[in-house]
Amino acid sequence: MEQTQEQQVVSMPRIGEPAPAFKAVTTQGDINFPVDYKGDWVILFSHPADFTPVCTSEFMTFASMEDKFAQANCKLVGLSVDGLYSHIAWLRTIKEKIEYRGMKNVEVNFPLIEDITMNVAKKYGMIQPGESNTKAVRAVFFIDPKGIIRTIIYYPLSLGRNFDELYRALIALQTADEFGIATPADWRPGDDVIISPAGSCNAAKDRMEGKDSNVDECKDWFFCTRKLDKDTVLKKILKK
Ligand code: BEZ
Repeated sequence: MEQTQEQQVVSMPRIGEPAPAFKAVTTQGDINFPVDYKGDWVILFSHPADFTPVCTSEFMTFASMEDKFAQANCKLVGLSVDGLYSHIAWLRTIKEKIEYRGMKNVEVNFPLIEDITMNVAKKYGMIQPGESNTKAVRAVFFIDPKGIIRTIIYYPLSLGRNFDELYRALIALQTADEFGIATPADWRPGDDVIISPAGSCNAAKDRMEGKDSNVDECKDWFFCTRKLDKDTVLKKILKK
């Protein structure tokens, strides 16, 4: 079936796939993505436009949490389809004039990509025409140290992100990798973690009978948990 231009399938990166590569100009110089970030976690996120209030509140929040993300080996990279001089002027205005929720004099030190051609935004499925043809939605890509996309969250223009949730997701992803477990609803460090379902009926039976030292409790054959204390998690994940 022939497709009109609007119907053409746009690329949407998917979880488990390599992060699409690009080179870009940012407020902190040129970047080669994701090559420059190999060995680190990175959150690549887009915002609709400079000099807008929700985006300003988000940038101030992210900038205030940059050290916290860095402690978890995670760098931040922003993007919008505005130009470099707009980015620079906006970030300067934020630092000089905006006070929000006790944050003031906030300096944004992570790179903010200029993407006036929308090349990167289109590669990452950040332009979602049902929401806007001319602005990126609020996309968040969690990319692991091997350059693989591990989580994607999209928010519409009107909805500011919850940064505690972004941090929680980062720590949960790293905990799953480090300890070979999964994390249940609303998990936070210190809560019990989920052991993946047993590979055989005998293994499931052993678990139910308390014979698997990797398991502390089974609610049923498919739902087993183990304790993982907060210090053990944080010691493994956070830099000293
Ligand atoms: C904002 O960041 O305030 C915003 C940006 C685009 C559309 C609506 C709100």
